[in-house]
Amino acid sequence: MLINNAAIHYDTGSRALLPDWTDIREAFETNVFGAWRAASAFAPLLGAGGHGRLVNVSSEGGSLASMGAGAPAYSTSKATLNALTCVLAAELRGAGVLVNAVCPGWVATDMGGPGGRPVAQGAAGIVWAATLPDDGPTGGFFRDGKRLPW
Ligand SMILES: NC(=O)c1ccc[n+]([C@@H]2O[C@H](COP(=O)([O-])OP(=O)(O)OC[C@H]3O[C@@H](n4cnc5c(N)ncnc54)[C@H](OP(=O)(O)O)[C@@H]3O)[C@@H](O)[C@H]2O)c1
Repeated sequence: MLINNAAIHYDTGSRALLPDWTDIREAFETNVFGAWRAASAFAPLLGAGGHGRLVNVSSEGGSLASMGAGAPAYSTSKATLNALTCVLAAELRGAGVLVNAVCPGWVATDMGGPGGRPVAQGAAGIVWAATLPDDGPTGGFFRDGKRLPW
């Protein structure tokens, strides 16, 4: 299994029309290209056993269905990660690799700050996606094992 968890720049105070290109480029470098590179590098191993699992840790902030103003670098990079999830799921379907995006919810980490759910609770939905049975879903977007709108 591969879990692409790393992400940066939850830029809630920023606006898309006053772009901080450094933040935006850095966010895409880690949140999208980092996950993309890791997926590409590990795909042969994931496919080798016929039961690979790839989880892109995303965010409902990347959902086009509820996209609003604010956090432009973060939300557009997570929307792109969601798109990548669909493409990878299609490319890896024949190799038995299930690829899904998971939002952990608001979690009390360095990024989430105080007040969020405990880390174990946020991680549970990621573990669920990383340990799906062979007939489990692929190419989906989930939180706590339940589908989220793209
Ligand atoms: N916390 C929330 O409320 C929340 C909500 C929705 C989604 N998420 C998602 O959940 C995931 C985990 O977030 P978090 O809350 O745990 O964030 P966090 O507290 O800021 O931790 C981010 C982690 O990513 C690592 N990282 C950042 N850039 C990296 C890079 N270029 N290469 C390798 N590692 C890198 C950091 O490593 P270092 O410590 O070494 O820098 C750190 O361990 C992210 O994908 C985030 O978008 C979080």
